[in-house]
Amino acid sequence: MKGEGKRSKARCLAYVAAFVVFQTAIILIFALTVMRFRSPKFRFGAVTVENFSTGNGTSPFFDMKLMAQVTVKNTNFGHFKYENSTIIISYAGMPVGEAAVVKGRVRARQTKKFNVTVDISSRKLSSNSNLGNDIASGVLSLSSQAKLSGKVHLMKVLKKKKSSEMSCTMGINLGTRAVQDLECK
Ligand SMILES: *[C@@H]1O[C@H](CO)[C@@H](O)[C@H](O)[C@H]1NC(C)=O
Ligand SMILES: *[C@@H]1O[C@H](CO)[C@@H](O)[C@H](O)[C@H]1NC(C)=O
Ligand SMILES: *[C@@H]1O[C@H](CO)[C@@H](O)[C@H](O)[C@H]1NC(C)=O
Ligand SMILES: *[C@@H]1O[C@H](CO)[C@@H](O)[C@H](O)[C@H]1NC(C)=O
Repeated sequence: MKGEGKRSKARCLAYVAAFVVFQTAIILIFALTVMRFRSPKFRFGAVTVENFSTGNGTSPFFDMKLMAQVTVKNTNFGHFKYENSTIIISYAGMPVGEAAVVKGRVRARQTKKFNVTVDISSRKLSSNSNLGNDIASGVLSLSSQAKLSGKVHLMKVLKKKKSSEMSCTMGINLGTRAVQDLECK
């Protein structure tokens, strides 16, 4: 009888230990997935060009409208609420157009998509000696920068500031008047 009592006590301890290990694993998995704050991804999905015109010759210029689809991908298990922001389009490191992004929210594990239209003109450049060469080459390289600042909310009580930076590059092919090689970091 004494031996049996010892054995059932040992078995009971083994169950408790197994339960503790199991519980710890569940908590760890929860902490590493659900409770983790991740930076959302902010980028251009697709970009098209309209009303494009360029001048080739002694006074080179370009004018166009970029119609861009913007995506904000939120991989958190809680919503992301962001502030107003501005997307700046640059040519040769100088701004040639900008678009406003109005504050909003992205639901948990969702990607929000919206469209922006950017008026782009080389008249906004103060100077650029290389513009003629770039236009003659047939491809204009543009880049976009923006920062989206906001907060990720988890389980209604936890909040953490998170921001996301957009940094994309693209080429405008002057022959096809289309965007090529859109890449976002
Ligand atoms: C392009 O120009 C035409 C004519 O000026 C205008 O009707 C049209 O709305 C413009 N497109 C965009 C996207 O602004
Ligand atoms: C955000 O942008 C909207 C629309 O442009 C403007 O009405 C609002 O005042 C802005 N909010 C902040 C906090 O700047
Ligand atoms: C954005 O533009 C695309 C292509 O022009 C269109 O199919 C889509 O419905 C637009 N999305 C929104 C949210 O307006
Ligand atoms: C611009 O002019 C150069 C030289 O005349 C020519 O080779 C090139 O094809 C032109 N480019 C465009 C986009 O018209």
